[in-house]
Amino acid sequence: MGYGKGYGKTILFGEHFVVYGLPAIASALSSSTTAEVQVVDGKGWEVIDQRPATPGYKEKKYDEAMQSIKNVIKHMNIDVGCQKLEITFSGDLFAASGVGASAAQATSLVRAINESFTLMLDDEKINEAAYEGEKAYHGTPSGIDNTASTYGGLIWFVKNLNGGKNTMEILDSGKRMPLVIANTGITASTVEVVGDVRKLKEANPVIFEKFFNEYYNLAINAKVALLEGDPINIGKLMNQNHKLLQEITVSGEINDKLVEIALDNGALGAKMTGTGRGGLVIALAENDEVQKNITNAIEMKGYDAWKTMIG
Ligand code: MEV
Repeated sequence: MGYGKGYGKTILFGEHFVVYGLPAIASALSSSTTAEVQVVDGKGWEVIDQRPATPGYKEKKYDEAMQSIKNVIKHMNIDVGCQKLEITFSGDLFAASGVGASAAQATSLVRAINESFTLMLDDEKINEAAYEGEKAYHGTPSGIDNTASTYGGLIWFVKNLNGGKNTMEILDSGKRMPLVIANTGITASTVEVVGDVRKLKEANPVIFEKFFNEYYNLAINAKVALLEGDPINIGKLMNQNHKLLQEITVSGEINDKLVEIALDNGALGAKMTGTGRGGLVIALAENDEVQKNITNAIEMKGYDAWKTMIG
């Protein structure tokens, strides 16, 4: 039997912009998806999905998840014509849009196959195989989700648009900061939202160049603020990033509502995270008490919220 684990992630800065080669910053979560692979008689593969999830999430993502598993098995050269893989996904990562659930699933599977077949792949190869899985969710993934899922920690990531090696730097913030993750309960389609942004960019090249320049400066400042452990500035930059995400039309009504509740209850900054138009919102808190207040306020309005730490 082989066992593997893939971390969930939250994008602190730069979702969507990262697809176009701009830098983004993600933090892995301590929650993860696990995979167990058992090789049995027969052929093909079978999946038991025991992950906790937002209602409707697994159904909506079913076809993409199956294609992702197929991509991984193919990329790893596993012959399923004369043996069968029994794959069980589980773990404490709550599968929802925005938490890197698809990447965590692919990474955990790659690690489990690696162990099961004693392939001895290093993290770079694990990440490459998980990226093949991510392609099932949309044709042009930046690779940030599988990278965060594979390596963990706080990462600075730049996609290489020429197809070469991406830039990945582990950031040592030196300060742990309380974060709230709030769930809109809406499962977004990454392929649709990324596709819409591409169309909008093609129709409005000049305005997008302005957004990209503005975002680039924001990302550089965010890296400095994170390295210096400066929550006040990180919060301000998160608010600015959320505004830019609204401009490129990827935030949704409930995302904006949750951002507002968080700010009204003392958050230093808040933004949507991940694909958007649903999915998750993150809010930075100054201390545990404010984190608790934000979480309670969001729950009072009928939405799920979790407490975590970044840095
Ligand atoms: C999805 O978690 C993040 C996006 O930027 C897509 C990607 O980076 O591949 C929306």
